[in-house]
Amino acid sequence: MAVASFDFSSLLPAGLPPAAAKWTSAARYNFIGGNNDPAETPVEGLVAAATAVLRREGPALASYGVRTGPQGYRPLREFLAGKLNRDAGMTCSYDDILIVSGSLQALDLINGVLLTRGDTVIIEQESYQGSLNRLKRLGVNAVGIPLDDGGMRMDALADALAALKARSIRPKYIYTIPTVQNPTGTIMPIERRRELLKLATDYGVPIFEDDCYADLIWDGQRPPAIHALSENGNVIHIGSFSKSIAPALRVGFIVAPWQILARALALKSDGGTGALEQMVLAEFCAPQFVTHVSKLRRGLRSKLDALMAALNEQFGTTAEFDDPKGGIFLWVKLPNEVDTMKLNQAALAAGVAINPGPEWSTDAAYGRSRLRICFASPSLEEIRNGIAILADVCRKEFGVPARIANVAQRAGS
Ligand SMILES: Cc1ncc(COP(=O)(O)O)c(C=O)c1O
Repeated sequence: MAVASFDFSSLLPAGLPPAAAKWTSAARYNFIGGNNDPAETPVEGLVAAATAVLRREGPALASYGVRTGPQGYRPLREFLAGKLNRDAGMTCSYDDILIVSGSLQALDLINGVLLTRGDTVIIEQESYQGSLNRLKRLGVNAVGIPLDDGGMRMDALADALAALKARSIRPKYIYTIPTVQNPTGTIMPIERRRELLKLATDYGVPIFEDDCYADLIWDGQRPPAIHALSENGNVIHIGSFSKSIAPALRVGFIVAPWQILARALALKSDGGTGALEQMVLAEFCAPQFVTHVSKLRRGLRSKLDALMAALNEQFGTTAEFDDPKGGIFLWVKLPNEVDTMKLNQAALAAGVAINPGPEWSTDAAYGRSRLRICFASPSLEEIRNGIAILADVCRKEFGVPARIANVAQRAGS
């Protein structure tokens, strides 16, 4: 490339997010992001599906989008409608579904349809960084509701709704990740889902249900989606193939009333979500989704066991966590003296990448000594070695844990 001497900086509009850092390499021990297990990518099945569907329908790639209209490839929407009905109790049809480029695009589209600067939304106090960052960038006030082991606490939600109403504020939505919450791993029980719907209905606030981890529950038993329990169509439901098949495919979906889909479609000006990805997914998923996902779940569960064992061995009782019922993350509490933003920097220098708690919470002080560990993508050996290095770094920086692998460490060693 020619020497870049032209200066664009005076042309940049105000309000852009901070510039991205240039990528150099991934950390040797990578516990960040929502990545999947590379060993479980169903490569052969995807190759066979791609070959079959390309032979049959390949010429259709000559047009933008897919032949079955702007809502997405119909066989994929039919697969989804059947699956959501079977697994999540939802009574949607393929026509209630819009295929999008990952559920991140679903977040952007729904935010684009509903939000403007100065609006208020309600969100779990610990939540997905991608959702929190979007709200911050949009200038939206995100009211965090604390969680317990059943997800968002309804007493705190009731209080927040009442307090906002007293100030004449009607939140634009209640955003929740009810089924294997990111990052806490909690699953909201059915009674609480009903309570949530009642509060939402009483206050005239829609629910924005982000359900991308629902296929990754160890025993395969999920509660009905909140969408399935709604009696008045006040739930926007989004999901993704990122966690069940592969995030690099960038295929997600929105299930919502046409009033919302029509607006989201009008904003979706990207020329269509990748048609080949949709076609391959439909071809692969119809016969193989269930078998693939049960195998994936078994692999993830054994990685979680390895992670919890490594944490117990290396951190002892200084690392507190619950055994999540599914997913790809462990949410860990370290003693109060540990600042995980600082731990992150020191760990990175030692080749270990973690997600520091303050980036996953509406309350940075609450997140200060917490961290999120993704166990799906590192190998079992990387989990063991990476956690040993993390404990060593943490002890050097904060004196915690005082003992590693049940061996007392000499001060200053
Ligand atoms: C809760 C939640 N929503 C949405 C996403 C975005 O997923 P994708 O765009 O890959 O579908 C993620 C990714 O980690 C997530 O954890």
